[in-house]
Amino acid sequence: MTDIPISSQLTVGVRPSKTTAAPAPPCVLVIFGASGDLTKRLLVPALYNLACDGLLPKQCAIIGTSSSDIPTPVFRERMSTDIKKFSTRKEFDQSVWEGFVSRLHYTAGKFDDPAAYQRLGELIKKLDAEIGADGNVLFYMAVPPSVFGLISTNLDKAGFTDQSHGWKRMIVEKPFGHDLSSALQLNKEILDHWAEDQVFRIDHYLGKETVQNILAFRFSNGMFEPLWNKQHIDHIQFTVAETVGVESRGKYYDTAGVLRDMIQNHMFQMLAYLCMEPPSSFKPDSIRNEKAKVLDAVRVMTPEQVAENTVRGQYGPAKKADGTQVAGYRQEPDVDPNSSTETFAALRLYIDNWRWEGVPIFVRSGKSLWKRGTEILVQFKKAPEVIFRDTPEVGHLEHNQLIFHIQPDQGIELRFQAKSPGPLMALQKVNMRFDYREAFEASRGTGYELLIYNCMIGDATLFSRTDLVEAAWRIAQPILDTWAASSPKDFPNYEAGTWGPKAAFELLTSGGRKWLEVINRAVLEQVPLFQGSSPVFLHSLALMLKPVVFAPGDFVVTKGAPGREMYFVARGELEVTDGAGKLLNTLTAGSFFGEMSLLLAEARTASVRAKSQADLYVLDRTDFAKVAKDHPSLTRSIIEISKSRYGLTIDPDKLFTE
Ligand code: BG6
Repeated sequence: MTDIPISSQLTVGVRPSKTTAAPAPPCVLVIFGASGDLTKRLLVPALYNLACDGLLPKQCAIIGTSSSDIPTPVFRERMSTDIKKFSTRKEFDQSVWEGFVSRLHYTAGKFDDPAAYQRLGELIKKLDAEIGADGNVLFYMAVPPSVFGLISTNLDKAGFTDQSHGWKRMIVEKPFGHDLSSALQLNKEILDHWAEDQVFRIDHYLGKETVQNILAFRFSNGMFEPLWNKQHIDHIQFTVAETVGVESRGKYYDTAGVLRDMIQNHMFQMLAYLCMEPPSSFKPDSIRNEKAKVLDAVRVMTPEQVAENTVRGQYGPAKKADGTQVAGYRQEPDVDPNSSTETFAALRLYIDNWRWEGVPIFVRSGKSLWKRGTEILVQFKKAPEVIFRDTPEVGHLEHNQLIFHIQPDQGIELRFQAKSPGPLMALQKVNMRFDYREAFEASRGTGYELLIYNCMIGDATLFSRTDLVEAAWRIAQPILDTWAASSPKDFPNYEAGTWGPKAAFELLTSGGRKWLEVINRAVLEQVPLFQGSSPVFLHSLALMLKPVVFAPGDFVVTKGAPGREMYFVARGELEVTDGAGKLLNTLTAGSFFGEMSLLLAEARTASVRAKSQADLYVLDRTDFAKVAKDHPSLTRSIIEISKSRYGLTIDPDKLFTE
């Protein structure tokens, strides 16, 4: 979803001298699969948005087709009901809708029936004559991939690819192929009948304003490009987390999995934008050439490398904080009860080129996770510490981080260190943030407007080319093959509503790195200890907490072991024992422990062990000392808690003196 007015989104390759875009040229738009979900949820709302913004040409007719027999008036009525539900505009414009709906038509037909194409042809001809579409026809394949080839062949046989009178284009929805060989086959089938420049392979992530802004950000701001390489960047992370499970799509999803559904397409597109070389212009092929080159350079893994650099997961059932039960993947409708399909994956990739050699690129996505959020983190290398050798900061410098918040939060954030006020050279992590809502007047779109409009004007920048699709499959294929060859023994390996499998965290911690979990004030306020704390304090704390995951049975701390950190339970159940195994207490979301070690660097007074999967935030003593100084009330309340829990009297002046 984007928050930017559609008419000001048209920045890619469109009429360089104008700041506002003109309506697209006349055309007849044919939607195959018009009785399906995509049409009512996204395509019709997107076309309506284009009409509201004056970008849909007046001479445009839309024909819906599918095998269901629906008379045109009924189709119009259905769309008029659905738009009320799915429109993204703040206010619904009835007069624009009435004009729009009168341009909707419907014809039924089976995709393998030549007579259906003949009827379609007659309707197109009639409407073209009525509106003056100049012979331009756009076909939108809102159908399962199994019929892409069939429809494109039949369209050719019925003469629809002929461009001697007006252009003929086709938009193909994802998934484009099930694997490398089917993608090659599908490309062949389509390109046997259509020219490459007539085929627009859609990836709706490229319609997102925040994704397009990656290019604008990188190439319109001179300060970042000199740093954008292995000399200065430590690693990069891409995360697409979803809270939803597979919902009603079990039948499709169980044959796909997250690698095919999200990573091979949407995430590799974002990776290409972030890591490609500067294009020579914003012309479609300049950009697509660079994207293809960078995807080509991604290391194709051997089976051994797959084992070392990938983690897969599947969500299991869980109980929400309010006691309600959430289904595990294997219990979802239309899913095999023994399914090995992954609903989560994390990969460590390498791009073998001059710019990125040796820089790990982490990619992860999953369903049924704790929150919805798409984020890209660019972590820079640390500054040399030598200058700080005589200060309290030696050994504690942090990495600078640049974070692209893609959705639902939309913005860009830079995290760095600042001197905290006072006589010492003490540093604290702070941030600067650009927020779309503050910078631009918002009117949400579906993300499809720009894609449809660009196809109508013939701009292919935001669409995938044959070589790009194939390059992305080449990266994914060995992972799919290796996973298929050994079925996972530990599925389900993460509970619904959590941060995902522990192994995904270990993929990073082995290199001393951490996944970015964006923690905001609302999350921290769920911890009773922080309730009522000042926004400034919560903000500082949010930048310091680090996420860790424990599997059932893991010890988080053991009695007698040295400790310097405190833990906050985000999710899960943990048992506190006396070291000999006697149960002292049970901890759940919102609880915390380890405050004595945090305050006094004392050995642990009890053991804590995860009973279920546990997601915890860790607060380190050194970090805490930095905020504690500015926020004495929190230190006071931890001291009070220590007194009531352990009967200890702590002198605040003795804290953090080492
Ligand atoms: C689709 C996937 O392509 O993208 C879905 O098939 C996924 O499984 C969706 O939920 C996510 O899109 P967005 O725009 O909500 O991030």
